[in-house]
Amino acid sequence: DEKTLEAEFQRRIDNEEKIEPKDWMPQAYRKNLIRQISQHAHSEVIGMQPEGNWITRAPSLHRKAVLLAKVQDEAGHGLYLYSAAETLGISREELIDALHTGAAKYASIFNYPSLSWADMGAIGWLVDGAAIVNQVSLQRTSYGPYARGMVRICKEESFHQRQGYHILMTLMEGDERQRKMAQDSVNRFWWPSLMMFGPHDSDSQHSGQSMTWKIKRQSNDELRQKFVDQSVEQAEAIGLTLPDPDLRWNEDRGHYDFGEIDWEEFYSVIAGNGHCNRDRVAHHRRAHDEGAWVREALDAYESKRSAARTA
Ligand code: 3HC
Repeated sequence: DEKTLEAEFQRRIDNEEKIEPKDWMPQAYRKNLIRQISQHAHSEVIGMQPEGNWITRAPSLHRKAVLLAKVQDEAGHGLYLYSAAETLGISREELIDALHTGAAKYASIFNYPSLSWADMGAIGWLVDGAAIVNQVSLQRTSYGPYARGMVRICKEESFHQRQGYHILMTLMEGDERQRKMAQDSVNRFWWPSLMMFGPHDSDSQHSGQSMTWKIKRQSNDELRQKFVDQSVEQAEAIGLTLPDPDLRWNEDRGHYDFGEIDWEEFYSVIAGNGHCNRDRVAHHRRAHDEGAWVREALDAYESKRSAARTA
């Protein structure tokens, strides 16, 4: 019966076993994973837009080629994750529909506009930096397809962060105007990057259950702290100032203390009222509709092939 199955499932989780698509799992585990993996996939794909804005405006052919490679990687990360979500018994159409209707979220950070070339640096360094801290931890998530997708994604992410940091380092070695552009960009992206780790553990709706099922291996606050600690040194190394007057080393804790996030802004943006929410979803919807002919052609080709096979 259900109780025995659940007890056996939890024993497997406690025993660090990976859950695979054909294994029995509680419906709530399946639902939680579809929620998190699909929103992770949506984040990767929507995240292509702010950076995509700057591919034609890159300052050199080299920077253009690197940015193009990064945006292309994000599309691939989205596809790994949509495929992982589909192993849980949901179709791509349902996933995309949930994004278009707003039923599914994506990382709030992508609702902020990319206003200058320096933003390509701040996004690579801070947004991918935060994503890496989160995704390295998620390599140990209990659902097999998700964990394996994370291993592949983490291999590509380090290049994303490094190229962003290099853009900022180059600007900080430039003239006054370039240094100002880099600092302005970090001022705009620092706090929204901290929001990527989610609410405080005490306010996190899913963390308790996600930790019991080892979907989440480290808490929102623990990963956020790790990200802050690593970012302070990296900022100092290239002369950037992080926009938080409360940031200071706490010897007793062995971590940096930092100021409070603007949770009102956080909840407003994830409720759909950020700068770019409507544009991002409208853009995705337009690209999806314009790409319908490709999907139809693939279907036609596939049905012709299978007809030939059965003939
Ligand atoms: N943006 C949007 N929604 C957020 C959010 C954020 N930054 N942080 C939290 N939320 C949402 C959660 O999805 C949840 O809403 P829901 O019930 O509708 O899904 C609600 O706020 C409460 O948060 P919880 O802490 O209870 O939710 P989780 O336990 O799911 O924790 C999370 C949130 C840490 C983001 C977790 O879902 C997670 O680890 N997700 C996978 C990582 C991910 O999505 N990363 C996106 C990074 S961007 C990226 O990877 C692209 C980069 O490569 C450029």
